[in-house]
Amino acid sequence: MKTLNRRKFLNKSCPILLSTIVGSTLLQYCTAEEIAEQAPISGGYSVSGNVLTIDLSHSDFGALDSKGWINFASQNLLLLKKSATEYKAFTNICPHERVKNKWSYSASTQKFTCHEHDNAYSSDCATAGKGGVLDCYKVALSGTQLKVYL
Ligand code: FES
Repeated sequence: MKTLNRRKFLNKSCPILLSTIVGSTLLQYCTAEEIAEQAPISGGYSVSGNVLTIDLSHSDFGALDSKGWINFASQNLLLLKKSATEYKAFTNICPHERVKNKWSYSASTQKFTCHEHDNAYSSDCATAGKGGVLDCYKVALSGTQLKVYL
């Protein structure tokens, strides 16, 4: 059996290994950046008691039209536009280990995925993922005003 000198092995393997590790780390970092990247919402809503009222025509909520969902981080909410007349609101606290702000949404599976451990959660407000159901809130739409009952 041929033995490989440790130094020669490391010299041959490390660039590939390092490239793989760094590439993976960069990929994960870039993915997290992409998910976290979202302009903070600073206007177009008000909170009174346990009722959050959102003006959907406000530019800060424009991503609901273009992307179909937003992470409303300051209110710990995920907002989902199902259609012109149907919206849903969920907690953005992951049922698994309560991590926030690492979400993506797939319209094809109708699931949110928390990228802390890549667990997916249904947007049907009933089907449990790892750790439980992604809790949703009652909402009411009137014109461009969306009320979320927290
Ligand atoms: S904390 Fe969200 S998947 Fe683990």
